[in-house]
Amino acid sequence: MKTIGLIGAGHIGSQIARLAVARGYYVVISNSRGPATLSGLVTELGPRARAATAAEAAQAGDIVVVTVPLKNYRQVPVAPLAGKIVIDTNNYYPERDGHIPELDNESTTTAELLQAHLPASRGVKAFNHIYAAALTTDGQPAGSKNRRALAIAGDDQDAKATVTRLLDEFGFDTVDAGPLKEGWRIQRDTPGYGPRRNAEELRKDLAAAKRYALK
Ligand SMILES: NC(=O)c1ccc[n+]([C@@H]2O[C@H](COP(=O)([O-])OP(=O)(O)OC[C@H]3O[C@@H](n4cnc5c(N)ncnc54)[C@H](OP(=O)(O)O)[C@@H]3O)[C@@H](O)[C@H]2O)c1
Repeated sequence: MKTIGLIGAGHIGSQIARLAVARGYYVVISNSRGPATLSGLVTELGPRARAATAAEAAQAGDIVVVTVPLKNYRQVPVAPLAGKIVIDTNNYYPERDGHIPELDNESTTTAELLQAHLPASRGVKAFNHIYAAALTTDGQPAGSKNRRALAIAGDDQDAKATVTRLLDEFGFDTVDAGPLKEGWRIQRDTPGYGPRRNAEELRKDLAAAKRYALK
């Protein structure tokens, strides 16, 4: 697991790229406008980084992070992601994404939507409830007292174990929220969405979360 592909290189994608190169990973970053528009970020990230198309980033990554506005999730390339761990950071903001009926009626979750688009991939929800800036300021070494924890959700246990190791390298404990369908427990407007939480606090937040319809 040496290369991380990024589909999306905005607030979250660029921060994950910074964390990754600082820990010795290679990154292949992409956006919607094309690699030439990412030259500044590539220069900042240094020799372990290159920019490419989304399809190339998907192909190159041992792990691939999808971090785009949710409304664009159907544009994520499918074939090159088959069999791969795909980390999904995306959240639903109707004012940005437009209304998505199956999210409005809570018959699915954002994580399950991307998984349905990428049926042969091993989806893990992660990084969706931490502000982008905090990714490079809140990490601490393993074993630190009161270390910040991040939630994951996914249906593939091996994929979750790999993402847990990655989060640990990035400076965070992990709390497993369960399968993808439980990903709503850390969606927008739930108690754990945004604030700094250690693992014990985050577990309580996940347990206390309510679906929008029940609020
Ligand atoms: N910002 C946060 O603090 C935060 C925290 C947690 C989770 N999130 C969630 O994470 C996702 C990304 O958020 P963000 O704040 O990083 O967004 P952002 O700053 O707007 O960046 C979005 C990135 O996605 C790229 N993109 C859009 N459509 C694409 C496509 N079809 N193929 C490839 N790349 C595409 C954009 O490229 P162009 O610029 O070229 O269009 C841009 O690089 C969102 O779902 C957001 O809700 C955000």
